[in-house]
Amino acid sequence: MKIGVFDSGLGGLTILKAIVELLPQYDYEFYGDTANLPYGDKTEEQIYNLTKIGVESLFEKDCQIIIIACNTASAETLRRLQDTYLVENYPDRRILGVIIPTIESLIEARVAKTFLIGTERTVSSGKYQKELDKFSRKPILYKEATPLLVPLIEDGQLELALTAVFASVDEALVNSIDSIILGCTHYTVLKEGIKNRYQEKIKVFSQDEIVPAKLADYLTNHPEHRSKLTTNGTRNIKLTKHQPAYDSVIETLLGGKLLAD
Ligand code: DGL
Repeated sequence: MKIGVFDSGLGGLTILKAIVELLPQYDYEFYGDTANLPYGDKTEEQIYNLTKIGVESLFEKDCQIIIIACNTASAETLRRLQDTYLVENYPDRRILGVIIPTIESLIEARVAKTFLIGTERTVSSGKYQKELDKFSRKPILYKEATPLLVPLIEDGQLELALTAVFASVDEALVNSIDSIILGCTHYTVLKEGIKNRYQEKIKVFSQDEIVPAKLADYLTNHPEHRSKLTTNGTRNIKLTKHQPAYDSVIETLLGGKLLAD
């Protein structure tokens, strides 16, 4: 059986790429809902229904574990999918998100004041704060929805996207933040630019640097799931809408195979 990765678009490929680098032996299926991107401004019910379709497709392709790489879907649907859909349909399989691993990393790093950027839905869901509140020693969370970033990044306008992030971070520095959470799969491409500008002043939490190690820990702690995973090193990518321009992105990121259906 395989490991599935779900995202609302191509951004999740950066997470898949990082996972594959650490755990190359396993077989992977990626589902990118490019036909319905962006999720960030949809209603909770729309996001739930779309995510459920993606998760169902990944389970049908024999995934034992699915990682919802999309923060928006993790924030709005993960608990509901785990508590109802999974229990009723695939009780022996697992769906994991990206928010809890990120919170654990923040706690482990002992940061004091952190700044979350993400989509409207991720920020307004309050999910990051809810998960932080489970810890007694936790950073103060400042947050800002940055809805313009996904369209800019999709459009390849990385300089403009970075300029927008710098403006937000510069403002947040008034609160003496010591770290930033890139709470959206797309934002990983801005990571180096942010690191270069702020150097040691701000620690950057980027999920491509967090999720792989957390998944490896999970597999170590859960041999009942790990033992079901096959190890042929295959990677399959399914996008709900394909554009020719995606080919080179996929090739560069993974050398993966794009499925026709
Ligand atoms: N993948 C989404 C996330 O990580 C961002 C893109 C979208 O709005 O669908 O939140």
